[in-house]
Amino acid sequence: MEKSTRNLKNLKFYVHTFGCQMNENDSERIAGILSTAGGKISSSPEESDIIIVNTCAVRKKSEEKLYSYLGRLASSKKKKKRTIGVVGCVAQLYGPELLEKKSFIDFVLGPDNYNLITEIIQSNHEEKFASTSWSREYKEIPHEKIFRESNISAYVTIMEGCNNFCSYCIVPFTRGREKCRPLQKITQEIQNLANKGYKEIQLLGQNVNSYKDPETEKDFSVLLKEANRIIAIEWIRFITSHPKNFTKNIAETMKGSEKVCHQLHLPVQSGSSSVLKRMNRGYTREEYLEKITFLRDLMPDISLSTDIIVGFPGETEKEFKETLSILEEVRFNNIFSFRYSPRPFTGAYKEKDNVSFEEKKRRLIEVQNLQKKIQLELNESTIGKVMKVLCTGKSKKAPRIYSGRNEGYQVVNFKSKNDVIGCFVDVHITSCGPYSLHGEATKQ
Ligand code: SAH
Ligand code: SF4
Ligand code: F3S
Repeated sequence: MEKSTRNLKNLKFYVHTFGCQMNENDSERIAGILSTAGGKISSSPEESDIIIVNTCAVRKKSEEKLYSYLGRLASSKKKKKRTIGVVGCVAQLYGPELLEKKSFIDFVLGPDNYNLITEIIQSNHEEKFASTSWSREYKEIPHEKIFRESNISAYVTIMEGCNNFCSYCIVPFTRGREKCRPLQKITQEIQNLANKGYKEIQLLGQNVNSYKDPETEKDFSVLLKEANRIIAIEWIRFITSHPKNFTKNIAETMKGSEKVCHQLHLPVQSGSSSVLKRMNRGYTREEYLEKITFLRDLMPDISLSTDIIVGFPGETEKEFKETLSILEEVRFNNIFSFRYSPRPFTGAYKEKDNVSFEEKKRRLIEVQNLQKKIQLELNESTIGKVMKVLCTGKSKKAPRIYSGRNEGYQVVNFKSKNDVIGCFVDVHITSCGPYSLHGEATKQ
């Protein structure tokens, strides 16, 4: 008897994404694979025959958000028969266990297994399916298939996984060891994006500074130089950098490559050397600050952002104050700050989570209030200036206002008489808040 198969043609699918840019780019790949096989992308889960949930495990809260989303899907599945697949970092961690616990899920795939997705859906199997194997090499998905959210700015994944094992971080257990994508594939993808009219690319990886071409061993600086040569792309950014691997050579390449934005996300996590040691970060406060000084001497206009964790096990008031003081010393343009969340499998999970929830909350508020004040001061100093902005759309709140980002990756909302979506615009800054700048296009 022939195996029953299901044709994807005309089936509607919906992809819901939790987590980081890496997950967003993976969802674009999944959408590309399914639409190449004939599926129709839908913006409504209710209408869809297939729902893919791409998950994040970085903090307990990310997992909790997923479980409440899955709860809603379970009740909607009772009303309409549909295929539900859970992919990404939580899928990788719990694999078949998820299928057992949540009977309404049809399949579970870890980040290295997305090339199986069409086959699973088409096979129309009654049995549930889980695959969470890790590959040693980067799994290439043809870039022509990527279904991108934007036609102005594009993500380009250059590596996956992490070898650093920061003691709080679950990522090495969800994404596995570092795997770099061949340089030639990366430049081909960027060239293809340039041909399609993209203006900006963002190179992605958990730890981009340790990039090495698997064939030639060419490093991240070479990759930046090669990307810089591709005509038509005007801005190049990259995330995330690890301070330990961020070398003078990379900084000098940023300065020497005119398309590479003078903007850097360099997660410090804590301002205290003793906490950094317990976090297994591989640098001290002083070493971090030296890199910042070097960067600012080289590129005085560089825009810096960082990640902060408060309430790491054993973090004393004195250690916490050092985080406040590093924020005052560096004066970042933006920060992402989090309460420490114990994660399974990690080194710190064995330590007592002894900073109380209330105390973590207080520390987080203190960090955020200080940063808000700093950002407002920094933003106010831009009033009266004219800056180049890549317009990516209209403001969500005010439909007559355009929105984009400047070279420093700050949000700029502005008035313009002409439709400038997808264009670089000179914007005269007239006012600001702590989280965005406001202005008017100069040439109307
Ligand atoms: N290098 C990675 C980091 C991913 S996690 C990347 O950007 O691709 C992003 C941030 O989440 C980290 O920099 C850290 O500040 C925060 N984070 C990670 N694990 C955490 C935990 N257990 N509790 C709280 N915050 C955490
Ligand atoms: Fe979340 Fe990290 Fe996975 Fe990104 S790599 S989805 S931040 S757990
Ligand atoms: Fe996580 Fe540290 Fe790697 S934050 S992703 S273990 S560099």
